[in-house]
Amino acid sequence: MSVIILGIESSCDDTSAAVIRDGVLLSNVIASQQVHAEFGGVVPELASRAHQQNIVPVVDTALKRAGVAKEDLSAIGFTRGPGLLGSLLVGTSFAKGLSLGLRKPIVDVNHLHGHVLSHFIRRKEDDDVPEYPFICLLVSGGNSQIVLVRNYNDMEILGQTIDDAAGEAFDKCAKVMGLPYPGGPHIDRLAAEGDASRFKFAKPHIPGLDYSFSGLKTSFLYTLRDCLKEDKDFIENNKADLAASLQRTIIEILMDKLDKAVRQTGVRTVAIGGGVSANSGVRDAVAAYCSGRGLKAFIPERVFTTDNAAMVAIAAYYKYLDGQFCRYDEVPYARVTV
Ligand code: KG4
Repeated sequence: MSVIILGIESSCDDTSAAVIRDGVLLSNVIASQQVHAEFGGVVPELASRAHQQNIVPVVDTALKRAGVAKEDLSAIGFTRGPGLLGSLLVGTSFAKGLSLGLRKPIVDVNHLHGHVLSHFIRRKEDDDVPEYPFICLLVSGGNSQIVLVRNYNDMEILGQTIDDAAGEAFDKCAKVMGLPYPGGPHIDRLAAEGDASRFKFAKPHIPGLDYSFSGLKTSFLYTLRDCLKEDKDFIENNKADLAASLQRTIIEILMDKLDKAVRQTGVRTVAIGGGVSANSGVRDAVAAYCSGRGLKAFIPERVFTTDNAAMVAIAAYYKYLDGQFCRYDEVPYARVTV
């Protein structure tokens, strides 16, 4: 009999629901919240309220697009953390309520596991998926990690940021350039037209596989401060070169540690995941790195890089197959590592 999983994601500012049958994606609906734009960042209370408004129509649409009746579901997967507690509470409570009403089990999903396992979402039965073990460069708005993935439930963090995440480096530098939130996609767009060698920013010297991005941020700010003294329109006149140089530096920092991790572990497969893996420069750098060394690269479709319920559904699918269910007294958590 088929295993049909409804996935629900509500960890930050996207309400999403997806349906997966035997590992194959049937629907993935994402409602992004516009209310935060004018505040230059996500406002937690507004996010929870928007989730409450969105969750019923989003789940309903996902089931309809999949052509699945809710009674046919095998289980309901939901993001239990990490994320904003109020936002997580909406998805968690909805999943519990639906589970009680339908008498179907619930499966809790770690959002970061979801990002890593997004490579196992198949559009068709014979789509290629990674073989274990592989390394995943997990780069999102809140996390930057290098994860050794031995199995869907056996992951080891080899290195992680000791301060800002890669997405924060993009977003904070974009903010001082006056770009809208989140700044990452704007930097990506501007960088395509800029000279990446024009500006040199500081790079960290952190031992091992850990990352740091706060020095780069400070060096970016100092460059702007000095140049603005000479020319008040400096940012406007040089934004493409600034974006391209910033993006190049972030990619160099990421690739340096990824290369170390690959050499240390000897793995032959590299995957990327999280919002920053939508970045054109990051995608190209990882693809070129792997093809130059005969490694297999898994670069996710852009829709699976930022928050989406398809990755929650696939992570829940594997836990379901293992009989790992969630109790009703389990509550969301704000912070956790993979
Ligand atoms: O994974 P995600 O949706 O949220 C977390 O779970 O943290 O990632 C959001 C992050 C933001 O920092 C955003 O600026 C960044 O991903 N991002 C990008 C791009 N698209 C999204 N950064 C650089 N280039 C992009 N194209």
